[in-house]
Amino acid sequence: MKIKTEITSLKQTEELASAFANILKPPMVVLLKGDLGSGKTTFVKSVVLSLGCKDLVTSPTFTLLNTYNAKFPIYHFDMYRLSSAEEAMNVGFEEYFDKQRLDGVCFVEWPENVEGLIRDVDFEIDIEKKGENRRTMTIKEGNHAGN
Ligand SMILES: Nc1ncnc2c1ncn2[C@@H]1O[C@H](COP(=O)(O)OP(=O)(O)OP(=O)(O)O)[C@@H](O)[C@H]1O
Ligand SMILES: [Mg+2]
Repeated sequence: MKIKTEITSLKQTEELASAFANILKPPMVVLLKGDLGSGKTTFVKSVVLSLGCKDLVTSPTFTLLNTYNAKFPIYHFDMYRLSSAEEAMNVGFEEYFDKQRLDGVCFVEWPENVEGLIRDVDFEIDIEKKGENRRTMTIKEGNHAGN
């Protein structure tokens, strides 16, 4: 499956994110790719809100991981400040990507920085910034085991 869509407003991003939220079921891993400021955090924020969590959703830029107790746990990672899978393992991130143990859904910004850490991917979302509010979003199914 692959969906490619042109977004022209923040509201459309929120709508796409809440539609996407409906297909989530633990354990799942979702990668988010796209330049700085393309809208990765914004997308996760809308997913968390639409899954009924009222906590303030902020970027995990400095914390590396934010956890939200929504309908199920949402683990929101930002690997921007890391530069290898080994660094991610040193801070204990490996266990989150073990599908046998994962009790929620992981969203990962900047997965490119931890190449080799995440082997089992359910979805990859690519966001391309085309203008102030315009984005091209591509959602494709990942290579999760047994697929
Ligand atoms: N259609 C849109 N979809 C998503 N974000 C939009 C859209 N239009 C405008 N924006 C704005 O673009 C910015 C996206 O920032 P956001 O923090 O989500 O990016 P990011 O991809 O997570 O960046 P980083 O790599 O720095 O973490 C926000 O200020 C948001 O309001
Ligand atoms: Mg971000």
